[in-house]
Amino acid sequence: MVDRELCHCMGVTEREVRLAIRAGARSVDEVGEQCEAGTGCGSCRGGIQLLLQQEERRASRRPIPDAIVQQLALFETRIRRGLGRR
Ligand code: FES
Repeated sequence: MVDRELCHCMGVTEREVRLAIRAGARSVDEVGEQCEAGTGCGSCRGGIQLLLQQEERRASRRPIPDAIVQQLALFETRIRRGLGRR
């Protein structure tokens, strides 16, 4: 994957912005506080906002935690027993 410079004023790459988001930045200003992207002329702030949205979508597709899967399996077993199936 090619890493491109997203913020030319501060020399910050797209990868560095994604790392800032994954480290907890939730707004363009918070990204700027972590890696300085978007703190110069501001022309890259729209690109940073897009990365924030992409990372939010990516995070929402995370796998279901094991504890929830186990609860669902238990629930399914109880339903089958309740219906007389095993
Ligand atoms: S290009 Fe990012 S602040 Fe100017």
